[in-house]
Amino acid sequence: MFDFRALRVPIVQAPMAGGPSTPELAAAVSNAGGLGFLAAGYRSAADVAGQLHRTRLLTGQPFGVNLFVPQPSIADPQQLARYADEIAPDAARYGVEPGVTHADDDGWNEKLGVVLDLRPAVVSFTFGTPTAAVLEALAEAEIAVLVTVTSVGEAKAALAAGAPALVVQGPRAGGHRGTFDAAATPPTADLDTLFGSIHHYTDTPLVVAGGVMQPESVQHLLSRGAVAVQAGTAFLLAREAGTNPVHRAALASPEFSQTAVTHAFSGRPARGLVNDFLRRHDATAPLGYPEVNQLTTPLRAAALAAGDAQNMALWAGEGYRDARQASALEIVRHLAKGIRR
Ligand SMILES: Cc1cc2nc3c(=O)[nH]c(=O)nc-3n(C[C@H](O)[C@H](O)[C@H](O)COP(=O)(O)O)c2cc1C
Repeated sequence: MFDFRALRVPIVQAPMAGGPSTPELAAAVSNAGGLGFLAAGYRSAADVAGQLHRTRLLTGQPFGVNLFVPQPSIADPQQLARYADEIAPDAARYGVEPGVTHADDDGWNEKLGVVLDLRPAVVSFTFGTPTAAVLEALAEAEIAVLVTVTSVGEAKAALAAGAPALVVQGPRAGGHRGTFDAAATPPTADLDTLFGSIHHYTDTPLVVAGGVMQPESVQHLLSRGAVAVQAGTAFLLAREAGTNPVHRAALASPEFSQTAVTHAFSGRPARGLVNDFLRRHDATAPLGYPEVNQLTTPLRAAALAAGDAQNMALWAGEGYRDARQASALEIVRHLAKGIRR
């Protein structure tokens, strides 16, 4: 079974669904001694299996796969209909309409089947904790597991279900917050404080994430007892990342000067660069993932195709200004500078 303490370089490349995570990125990070991750979210199970095989061609080192834990729908049909009307003029500008909402568990059972069959070294989860039965099946398959948590309460719930290790995600993190309760406001306690409270409660291995861009923060978090540090935004501009060109340009552009947490794009709180769509709809968007995500999908896709960064999700953590255009190997080396194992 994979042991986080045995990583040659205690840097985990965060899974980043929607494009940035690629087999090439995961393999390059693992080949550099860290732990690369594939993101299964939004992909078909067959696609995830294909990515797993491709990553194995590129590295003989351990890597991970990340899954979204499905949850009961909290979307209100009337609010969804109102939001569809609200964003319809934005969509019309690109000649598209808001998407149609439908039940979707992101292929949960099929993807669990893929990881149990193909057995990547590590599987991580976000948006909740798997049941004890799922965690047992993964343990039997000798797959190491990480459950993402954003509060002490979530850490307790994950441990009670049998999670053998956690990712502690702080509020500066880019992309979706892993908060279990889709209707709750994600906690804002800083990563250091959150890590301290969870570390005080358990001696389970803890990986920390959220806003880590520099070796000094990595060293600090390791000195506090984290087994590894997970970074996402730091890899968004990596050569091997699949981050689309519009997102890449926005991250480097003075036109975008801050990030915010919003559920306007997907119905679940996520941190991204503040753009026109976020400013227009942040206050009025309803909660409800994946339905809100489905409503905005055609508009986001059309904006991307038109090269318009103002109407797509530009996920980024608070530290995005320090993201480096470099190879994944160079980024791992930078983050791990000064670490003595
Ligand atoms: C573009 C992007 C996509 C993300 N997608 C996922 C995902 O699919 N699954 C997941 O568990 N976390 C996802 N995250 C969150 C990361 O796992 C991690 O918590 C975050 O990147 C850490 O903060 P940082 O971006 O400041 O390094 C994503 C983050 C970004 C920036």
